[in-house]
Amino acid sequence: METLLTVRELRKTYRRGGGVFSQGTGGARFTAVDNVSFSINRGETFAVVGESGCGKTTLARMLLRLIEPDGGEILFEGRNLLTLRGEALRSQRRQTQMVFQDPFASLNPRMRVSEIVAEPLAIHEPGLSETERLARTTAILGRVGLNEDAMRRYPHEFSGGQRQRIGIARALILQPKLIVADEPVSALDVSVGAQVLLLLQEL
Ligand SMILES: Nc1ncnc2c1ncn2[C@@H]1O[C@H](COP(=O)(O)OP(=O)(O)O)[C@@H](O)[C@H]1O
Ligand SMILES: [Mg+2]
Repeated sequence: METLLTVRELRKTYRRGGGVFSQGTGGARFTAVDNVSFSINRGETFAVVGESGCGKTTLARMLLRLIEPDGGEILFEGRNLLTLRGEALRSQRRQTQMVFQDPFASLNPRMRVSEIVAEPLAIHEPGLSETERLARTTAILGRVGLNEDAMRRYPHEFSGGQRQRIGIARALILQPKLIVADEPVSALDVSVGAQVLLLLQEL
């Protein structure tokens, strides 16, 4: 088995009280992610389980460098993610995509489904023709079980489970090597959530 991701002694501290309103109220900090180490093989499904507030979201966001760690290493295919800059960072970013916890908050309500799903292509493959972009978008929506007429509709026209499928299509369209899903079904009913989990497993 080939290792895709190695995390070594990853650490993140926050200012106690948190948020912008407590900036400057002394230096008291607490540790949200405390020396976490693990590795994930290519093709493997890896789960992090823990009670609310134990640091799962912080950990997930550090893997995508949406939050900078205070210590530790993240190796992606052996390359140190935390020292990447510029073009190397840009091309790395497309390899890891995220599915967010809340399908109601994570999709832009003013964008059509076709635009939401194709947006990563517009960013990372700007040279793609309109026809190719449309073909890739239709294909990926098909894989998550949504048909072509979903394309010109808006997120509010869909159920929670369907919205999460849209979020998954968006995460998949660049064919990333790693998908980080942060409690992808906790905002959904149990049965709808089970369907989304089955879909993720199948992909
Ligand atoms: N930006 C932030 N500033 C300060 N504290 C934060 C911030 N984000 C999260 N925390 C705190 O860090 C801890 C871990 O949060 P989080 O990673 O969201 O946990 P989980 O996703 O497991 O519920 C919690 O105590 C949370 O209140
Ligand atoms: Mg969380």
